[in-house]
Amino acid sequence: MGIDGCRLIHLPRISDSRGNLTFIEEGRHVPFEIQRVYYLYEIPANAERGGHGHKALHQLIVAMSGTFDVVLDDGRRRKTVQLARPDHGLYVCPMIWRELVNFTTGAVCMVLASSLYDESDYYRDYEAFVAAGRGQP
Ligand code: TYD
Repeated sequence: MGIDGCRLIHLPRISDSRGNLTFIEEGRHVPFEIQRVYYLYEIPANAERGGHGHKALHQLIVAMSGTFDVVLDDGRRRKTVQLARPDHGLYVCPMIWRELVNFTTGAVCMVLASSLYDESDYYRDYEAFVAAGRGQP
């Protein structure tokens, strides 16, 4: 599917004089079963996160606060998506190399994931990721 399989999902937002509320329901707003949630916070200036691909993991990435860029790469094409709203989620399908960069001070990145943490699902070497995407061992 490649990076065309990734897309921005507009999450519901309930607004009133007390502020905004956003919710995410499995099966309705995310196209996978949610088994894990993690978040990145207190990210130093110029720090870069990600820098890996996943064999089978589906994720939804949300900027809960602040702004950052997600660079998506399927081994053929590259695309940068800026996340800046807590009611937008970036769905990232399997076999995408991602880098998270340009975090603003105080940014919080929440990730919903389709399975528990499993290091064997990672590609941490870009060349190995590209080779695997081309069906090479
Ligand atoms: P890492 O993959 O480098 O984080 P990021 O994708 O944000 O760049 O993970 C940092 C460390 O945290 C690494 O030792 C693996 C561990 N980790 C877990 O134990 N559980 C998790 O759910 C995640 C995402 C990471």
